[in-house]
Amino acid sequence: MTRVFVPIDAAALSVGAGRVAEAIEREAKSRGADVTLVRNGTRGMLWLEPLVEIETSGGRVAYGPVNPEDVPSLFDAGFLEGQAHALSLGATEQIPFFKAQERLTFARCGITDPLSLDDYASNDGFAGLKRALTMEPAAIVEEVFKSGLRGRGGAGFPTGIKWRTVLNETADQKYIVCNADEGDSGTYADRMLIEGDPFVLIEGMIIAGLAVGATQGFVYLRSEYPHAYRTLRRAIELAREAGYLGSSVLGSGKAFDMDVRLGAGAYICGEETSLLESLEGKKGVIRYKPPLPAIAGLFGKPTVVNNVLSLATVPIIMSKGAQFYADFGMGRSRGTMPFQLAGNIKQGGLFEKAFGITLRQAIYDFGGGTATGRPLRAVQVGGPLGAYFPDSLLDTALDYEAFAAQKGLLGHGGIVVFDDSVDMAKQARFAMAFCAHESCGKCTPCRIGSTRGVEVIDKIINDEDRKDNLELLDDLCELMEGASLCLLGGLTPYPVQSAVRFFPEDFDKAAPVQQAHNH
Ligand SMILES: Cc1cc2nc3c(=O)[nH]c(=O)nc-3n(C[C@H](O)[C@H](O)[C@H](O)COP(=O)(O)O)c2cc1C
Ligand code: SF4
Repeated sequence: MTRVFVPIDAAALSVGAGRVAEAIEREAKSRGADVTLVRNGTRGMLWLEPLVEIETSGGRVAYGPVNPEDVPSLFDAGFLEGQAHALSLGATEQIPFFKAQERLTFARCGITDPLSLDDYASNDGFAGLKRALTMEPAAIVEEVFKSGLRGRGGAGFPTGIKWRTVLNETADQKYIVCNADEGDSGTYADRMLIEGDPFVLIEGMIIAGLAVGATQGFVYLRSEYPHAYRTLRRAIELAREAGYLGSSVLGSGKAFDMDVRLGAGAYICGEETSLLESLEGKKGVIRYKPPLPAIAGLFGKPTVVNNVLSLATVPIIMSKGAQFYADFGMGRSRGTMPFQLAGNIKQGGLFEKAFGITLRQAIYDFGGGTATGRPLRAVQVGGPLGAYFPDSLLDTALDYEAFAAQKGLLGHGGIVVFDDSVDMAKQARFAMAFCAHESCGKCTPCRIGSTRGVEVIDKIINDEDRKDNLELLDDLCELMEGASLCLLGGLTPYPVQSAVRFFPEDFDKAAPVQQAHNH
């Protein structure tokens, strides 16, 4: 019997992995070949999807991208024995993009069957939970604190400190809320993890519950992720049936259960207080802080709100120890980060690496440069609120503080690349228009400011009182940054001002057009 792996991840399905799996089954049947098809998560090398892997005595070998029409010739070539074919990629883990990574959070993604508890357990799954069950809540919190883990949702707040606040609250009910709204442009790590290794998120949430004394968890998942929704719901059922969730986690007498709720399709619902409003069945509008959600969160109870990746990193911290994790990274950015390459990039996909490599290394060593082969002109890291960096800033290290020093954001690790055909005035306008569209409307600088901002940018583009309007735009950005109630209005100036600062020629119609495109 030969095990053949074809990803069931949405990105792989979108390029035909489902049809490839069917073709392999059909072909195997007609040839009488003894094949077991495993639908795994993705290895993250999206430009090679559908990536088919064969388990051989020497490890897994890969072929890709495979189309259904390639399947007969793969069988002819003897791919079930790992033989050569035009689509051969060799040993999966020797592919340079994969080999150069440090996969901790994504250690199992692409390797296991996402819905097999046996597979999960035999690949180090639940080791962290088992250790946590032997520890006092405060000791679990300290372990997470010592690992240096910071929130992967965007703000980079130390997870251990947040947990400590919730642990120190006295309440009849506490909650763990997982933020899986994943609204940032160019990001898909949360989805990939949930579809490829859902038990690691479940394990992380149980550990969080044990640590702070919460007995109920909710995953707030964006509604645009139907595959992740199905996978996670099934994984929760399986974990419950096996005794990992329920009134007595693994017979410990400690309760923890969880459920999934679908989001309402608004970017602002990714912000934690709007998310809590939405989870309570209300309109997703920002709440004033304080009180922090850690003190009065879901239904007014102390609540941990953490991103998918933050929670899914806890199991490895608990199983290997805080120091193991803290040994990766640089400065105050400890551990690894799953970075996601998108936009105009040759090798799009997710790679997990310790903090500290440069943006240039990410784009060229992992991404292989632009997909068009044209010169790179701008990169936006950290989603729609992240700054646009020109080539001269590409040597910035991927580290929270190094990015902040350049008025940039690491955010959720999305890296979106643009070649020299990009019009940065349009990108600046888009950032303001996005803010106007997604504004929850609670505060004036964002609600009104973003609409006025679009108008001012239009005037600049149309060369109406350019100098005065550029000054006005600066004033407006200063106001939005300083006086907005939340970071949607507060960070929109980042993409806008970086575009003006680094690409001024695009805001000047009088400047020769070529100048803007000859970098
Ligand atoms: C406008 C806006 C959108 C956000 N969207 C998300 C999101 O989609 N996913 C996420 O995890 N955090 C998002 N955040 C950050 C959350 O407010 C919060 O900081 C995070 O869920 C905390 O988890 P962490 O500490 O694990 O990162 C957003 C913040 C803002 C201001
Ligand atoms: S900045 Fe103000 S109006 Fe904009 S989303 Fe935040 S709270 Fe709402």
